[in-house]
Amino acid sequence: MSESGKSRSRYTFPQWTNKLPVFLTVGGLITLCFVVFVFWYWLSPKHTDVGYSPKQPIPYSHRLHAGQMGIDCRYCHSQIERTGVANIPATEVCMNCHKMVKTNSPYIKKIKESYDSGKPIPWVRVHLLPDYVYFNHARHLKSGISCVSCHGRVDQMDVVHQVQPLSMGWCLECHRHPERALRPTEFITKLDWAAKDQLEMGRKIMAEKQIHTREDCSTCHR
Ligand code: HEC
Ligand code: HEC
Ligand code: HEC
Ligand code: HEC
Ligand code: HEC
Repeated sequence: MSESGKSRSRYTFPQWTNKLPVFLTVGGLITLCFVVFVFWYWLSPKHTDVGYSPKQPIPYSHRLHAGQMGIDCRYCHSQIERTGVANIPATEVCMNCHKMVKTNSPYIKKIKESYDSGKPIPWVRVHLLPDYVYFNHARHLKSGISCVSCHGRVDQMDVVHQVQPLSMGWCLECHRHPERALRPTEFITKLDWAAKDQLEMGRKIMAEKQIHTREDCSTCHR
């Protein structure tokens, strides 16, 4: 009675669905490969640029200037609180001291050349977000987030390198728990400063300043 020709009509699914498990398996494998690729590629240190440390035209050392000599970050990155962009200092700022200091050094001679010719020193950019992300230093500093939360111990670096991934997940992690990082604003450039009880202090600052860190997309993508 159930010979192939007739019986087929009794099946609800057309015959090609017999191959469905194969498609699903292959599809599943492709998806798996894609997921693995995404994690391997996007989260790998290379893509997130952690550790990125390009060679600079002059071996300027933060360890010496900001660390040992204790020059405040804002002496050189002077626009950071006003414009929100952390300008790299003009050669004039270096010349405030190096007109007199170490004038025999070949590096300082290069600085003087830049000063005399008016051609800026071609510093290589280390930290860089994609264009579609909006970021502004000023608000973070005003709230009481220290440079150290995002750039690490720059005052101990001879050559600046990137310490944090600057990924979306990383931004959101702090926007969810700003109490882990907030400190009084007078200490934002004191990179070795630490609170006795960070969480207690962080929560207090959140309440006092009414800090409401946001996670909606338009905060950072506008
Ligand atoms: C005497 C001037 C001076 C002082 C003080 C100074 N910086 Fe810099 N900073 C520079 C110069 C010049 C560069 C560009 C060359 C380089 O990357 O090393 C730079 C680069 C940087 C960069 C990398 C920027 C990029 O390209 O992404 C960071 C981050 C930074 N500084 C943070 C700090 C912090 C934090 C402090 C305070 C602890 C500080 N700086 C103090 C002069 C200074
Ligand atoms: C507040 C003063 C001051 C400022 C501003 C300053 N420096 Fe210096 N710099 C010094 C002193 C002091 C030394 C150490 C000299 C020594 O080793 O005896 C030094 C050393 C250096 C050296 C090492 C020179 C060598 O051959 O050993 C370089 C390179 C240098 N500075 C670059 C810069 C650059 C670039 C800037 C500007 C972004 C800058 N400095 C701003 C005071 C300053
Ligand atoms: C909340 C995190 C955060 C804090 C706090 C922070 N930075 Fe940055 N910084 C960044 C990010 C992200 C970039 C890359 C910005 C971009 O590409 O637009 C950056 C870039 C920079 C640059 C490169 C030039 C620029 O403006 O893009 C310098 C210099 C710098 N920061 C210095 C500092 C100093 C000095 C402090 C403390 C006074 C500080 N930053 C505090 C996250 C931070
Ligand atoms: C260590 C903590 C921390 C990190 C990391 C951080 N933020 Fe924030 N962010 C804050 C705090 C605190 C505020 C202030 C919220 C308030 O005042 O209510 C803020 C506010 C902002 C604002 C709103 C302020 C404005 O100017 O409109 C933007 C946009 C923003 N963050 C973007 C970013 C991006 C993009 C990143 C990652 C590249 C980032 N943040 C990483 C703590 C952080
Ligand atoms: C606190 C800041 C912040 C918020 C809020 C935020 N993003 Fe992002 N987003 C970023 C940053 C920073 C990057 C760049 C990451 C990188 O370069 O690796 C990014 C990247 C992206 C990308 C590109 C992904 C990629 O791998 O290239 C997409 C898509 C995106 N965001 C969507 C969203 C959506 C949707 C929301 C809301 C649910 C959102 N973002 C909220 C900071 C933010």
